[in-house]
Amino acid sequence: MKKKPLIIIACMLAGVLLLAIPVINLFYTLPATPEFEAIQAETPAMETAKMIIANKCLMCHADNPSLPYYAKWPIASGVIAKDIEGGTAMADFTELFENKGLDEIQMAKLEQAIRLNTMPPSNFMALHWNGSLTAKENEAVLAWVREVRARHFATGLADAAHANDAVQPLPAALPVVQAKVELGQKLFHDVRLSGDNTISCSSCHDLAKGGTDNAQFSTGVRGQLGGINAPTCFNAVFNVLQFWDGRAEDLADQAGGPPLNPIEMDSSWEQITGKLALDEALTAEYKAAYGGSPWEAENIKDAIAEFEKTLITPDSKLDRYLKGDSTALSPAAQHGYALFQSHSCATCHAGKAMGGLTFEKPIHPDAFFSSRKRTPKEPDLGRFNATNDEAHRYKQKVPTLRNIALTFPYLHHGSTSDLKEVVRLMHDHFVPKANRKPLSDKDIDEIVEMLESNTGVLNGKQL
Ligand code: HEC
Ligand code: HEC
Ligand code: HEC
Repeated sequence: MKKKPLIIIACMLAGVLLLAIPVINLFYTLPATPEFEAIQAETPAMETAKMIIANKCLMCHADNPSLPYYAKWPIASGVIAKDIEGGTAMADFTELFENKGLDEIQMAKLEQAIRLNTMPPSNFMALHWNGSLTAKENEAVLAWVREVRARHFATGLADAAHANDAVQPLPAALPVVQAKVELGQKLFHDVRLSGDNTISCSSCHDLAKGGTDNAQFSTGVRGQLGGINAPTCFNAVFNVLQFWDGRAEDLADQAGGPPLNPIEMDSSWEQITGKLALDEALTAEYKAAYGGSPWEAENIKDAIAEFEKTLITPDSKLDRYLKGDSTALSPAAQHGYALFQSHSCATCHAGKAMGGLTFEKPIHPDAFFSSRKRTPKEPDLGRFNATNDEAHRYKQKVPTLRNIALTFPYLHHGSTSDLKEVVRLMHDHFVPKANRKPLSDKDIDEIVEMLESNTGVLNGKQL
């Protein structure tokens, strides 16, 4: 009999405490870390954004965050640890501000989180009633994103309505050394780069097939089959790193891979330079471009890379639309482009090439692979293969979506040529849960129509 009132009192105390925390929190500012405080803002817009992020976001988006007063309490500590781990894996704002926002993808993600009002997560909001950003704070953070984009990422080709889009029109051309381009073009198509004179770069990167071989896996010398889909070499110059796992620094570094790869071209630089030196006309052209040097691997790779810099494909219908020609895209494709942004596709497929800037993984890799009826094999480990960093397991380089109608089959395992299926997979397995909204079949059709309007012009010819 005596126990009952005690339980009631205990419950009431707990209730008061539960209510007291959010009330106290109304007057409590989350502490920023000394590292974050020390970052020098380069503009007033950055300074304002920095203050807002420090107060409302940093706690879950910094490697070594300062924790709130309740962080050591039972239950709370577990919840906080989980939020911090989940949040920091997705976005590290100390790093972003230290880099002055010079990360096109992180800025697109920050922008999207603010636009969709998804952050902070709802469990945090239950105890922090004023935890979300005010309309004014939203606008201030977005202003910083706009400032950085205009200064560093925009190609300056979009019209006013699209100048601040995460997706930017491709430039018409890059500066190149013409003599090296012409030599590189020949070498790109030269089967003497392979051990048995049967395979050239263009065997797997056919310029008439969107820079791919349209095969699930590529066939190298002696009919050997590779284990990962060949990405396009078009617009590859805009990739931060080359290959699905980013193991090559740049195009020249990449071009050194296939000739020596036993299942691709299976040759050696000695063999290759020996064969090329027998070709008098080509050797004369080479010497003119490389200051009289004898045949060398470094120069061969350099010439091929110089040629690949010309493989950019501007002036697709999508780009003409972004540049201000409102008739270039059908109304359905225009709506598809809006959906591409509102469904967060453009946070990963951002920039000029609509990809190539980061390595990303499915939200639940197991579910993704089982939906493809695939048991993960070595190529599926992605960036992990190049870095051995556990955080990189299953992360693949985000592929470019330029000329996507030509570059089938899709995904690193080339397991489908159906763009509608891929868009559905992206929505279900790659769009972060907090950002995910229902996507109808009609929406998918419109996104696909936009993607198919994304085929560009190569050296003056519509692809
Ligand atoms: C209580 C912890 C917490 C706070 C506070 C918080 N976040 Fe997050 N944030 C998370 C978690 C957890 C995730 C991962 C969500 C998921 O997996 O869908 C995340 C994800 C993100 C992402 C990545 C989304 C993507 O597209 O990849 C961004 C950007 C982000 N948060 C921005 C913010 C901003 C801006 C604020 C401040 C307004 C903020 N967060 C406050 C925990 C937090
Ligand atoms: C036998 C087929 C084959 C040959 C020959 C071949 N490639 Fe590739 N290429 C591939 C495959 C497959 C990949 C992806 C491999 C990976 O990511 O691990 C690739 C990747 C690339 C990439 C990286 C693109 C990106 O988005 O990361 C470039 C650039 C490229 N190749 C150019 C070349 C050049 C230049 C040559 C000739 C020196 C060449 N390739 C020869 C099949 C081939
Ligand atoms: C979190 C980052 C992320 C988001 C968000 C995202 N993607 Fe992707 N996308 C990727 C990655 C990574 C791949 C490669 C996956 C693989 O090969 O396993 C990819 C592949 C693709 C491909 C196939 C390209 C090819 O050549 O193989 C298409 C098409 C595509 N995405 C469209 C979309 C659309 C449409 C959306 C929005 C519904 C979207 N993506 C959202 C990261 C993302």
